[in-house]
Amino acid sequence: MCGIIGFAGKTEAVEVLLDGLERLEYRGYDSAGVAVVSTDGKLQVKKSKGRLSVLRTLLEAEEPMSGGIGIGHTRWATHGEPNDVNAHPHVGQEGKIAVVHNGIIENYLEIKNSLIRKGIRFSSDTDTEVIVQLLEYYYKKYSNLMDAVYAVLNRIKGAYAMGILCSDYPEQMLAARKDAPLLIGYGEEGNYIASDVTALLSHTRTVTYMEDDEVAVITAGKVEIYDSDRTLLEKEKHAIEWDVTAAEKGGYAHFMLKEIMEQPEAVRKTISPRIVDGKIVLEELKGTGDFIRNVSRIYIVACGSAYHVGMVGKYTLEKLLHIPVEACLASEFRYSEPLLGESTLVIVISQSGETLDSLAALREAKRRGSKVLSIVNVMGSSIARESDYVLYTWAGPEIAVATTKAYTTQMVLLIMLGVYLARELEQIGQEEYDAIVEGLLRLPEQIKQVLNELDNYQKIASRYFNHNSVFYIGRNLDYALGLEGSLKLKEISYIHSESYAAGELKHGTISLIEPGTLVVALATYAPLVEKSLSNIVEVKSRGAEVIALTTDKTVNTISSQTSEMFVIPEVQAILQPVLGVIPLQLFAYYIALNRGCDIDKPRNLAKSVTVE
Ligand code: F6R
Repeated sequence: MCGIIGFAGKTEAVEVLLDGLERLEYRGYDSAGVAVVSTDGKLQVKKSKGRLSVLRTLLEAEEPMSGGIGIGHTRWATHGEPNDVNAHPHVGQEGKIAVVHNGIIENYLEIKNSLIRKGIRFSSDTDTEVIVQLLEYYYKKYSNLMDAVYAVLNRIKGAYAMGILCSDYPEQMLAARKDAPLLIGYGEEGNYIASDVTALLSHTRTVTYMEDDEVAVITAGKVEIYDSDRTLLEKEKHAIEWDVTAAEKGGYAHFMLKEIMEQPEAVRKTISPRIVDGKIVLEELKGTGDFIRNVSRIYIVACGSAYHVGMVGKYTLEKLLHIPVEACLASEFRYSEPLLGESTLVIVISQSGETLDSLAALREAKRRGSKVLSIVNVMGSSIARESDYVLYTWAGPEIAVATTKAYTTQMVLLIMLGVYLARELEQIGQEEYDAIVEGLLRLPEQIKQVLNELDNYQKIASRYFNHNSVFYIGRNLDYALGLEGSLKLKEISYIHSESYAAGELKHGTISLIEPGTLVVALATYAPLVEKSLSNIVEVKSRGAEVIALTTDKTVNTISSQTSEMFVIPEVQAILQPVLGVIPLQLFAYYIALNRGCDIDKPRNLAKSVTVE
């Protein structure tokens, strides 16, 4: 979704801003803009609909912007269509103050109407413009920028991360946040604000996370952060482990392909530090034994692909722990009546750690007395900070909108958590435990083996990319996996696709199967392979073309029905989906490539969904 970058430094700001915005492009946007204030207090603003290249052309055509203090924004339209006027930064009618904003101001209409009654003219349809017009209004009233900022923050309701420039303060930028991420970076050339750490990696890896209701005053040489009472705070600085190359394509055609190929390493980094002397050690859960023994129910709450990990977790954890485990869509969970309480554990899964629905579900769970354990990729993100316990996936930055390495690392971590809890609850025998631990350690090499079959995925994709409807079918863990395979395909290739529990087909969906319909049949879950075979026969006898995903142990059974196959090594059933997802990711990737789609930035999608 929207991205913010800001710079207060000794060098020209505009290039820093454009570089930051380029690194934020992956989040999804439809317009972009920058504002810079010169040392003599001239506020310069350029913005435009479309890609950053349009903004760059606009900037090149005119006199260069000069000044070391600036803010930039990529906008993903919510209030008002994507156009030049609605793009950020927004400037007040006096032309003194500029604002970039992520989030939504819920009471913007009420404030807008009251300002209009005072004679203030609005030019855009955005909620953000309300912030800047109100700021100028209070600034005129109080003649002090900080007073005006606090007055605005007291008046607006909703979520915001914002960067503010004022032509009367040409040496500083201000920043404020509530329910939307914003961090401050400390660099040699100056100091930064950003909504996302990837925008800062080429300048600094030392950051501070802003908390709700804090306001920061940032100059080239100093950062001051205040709380809601205007008390100066001592904030902790954090070192980011990701390096800049992790957020670059490194010779790959797409970030998505690069991230798929990074999975052996990402999985290894997530697993191996947590296995010590043949035991799964989750330091993060140290001292929680009493609580764990009391857990009588688990909810796994997430959105999109992370929810699909939750579906894998439902089958796996329920089987391992013998307690009810439910996977819930965060957007539904928060408005339903889940059975929360002290003995319920809520597991929230999120790559970004900022997904609004997941965050809201987390808060609801905590409010109702449950403990929340999150599985998160981005350090210091809101979900990580608000959870009782956090397990980090060490996937590194994920730039492609369609998740791949975050999904696999979430899945291995959830499986590890399940096995860890099973041991704590004495629900797993030593032999089974040891076998799974050994299996976990072998996964990175086996993922490499599956990745070696690129030619096969490419060849099969090149035969089917013209289909306009695809069904994924599977049972148990294969059903959970099919959900992800189907989502990967539809989001990047725009092919309509559905995923069904294979046993459900007969209850309606099979009427859609006709000669030539493409069915991807998942048959990797060993206990149910025979049953999956029957489902393949069912759809084939109605004319479907079938691509099967199966293992080297069951390939002979499946090959009696189809010759189009993705074959992966057979491993323990609970680890099988970790390998199974790889061909599905690559199949979707190559289909989208054949169709000429914008793979890393599919239409209408944003990497991190910070609105409801
Ligand atoms: C799909 C995808 C999304 C995310 C979902 C949750 O490829 O990436 O479905 O999984 O938006 O995002 P996080 O994990 O950041 O909470």
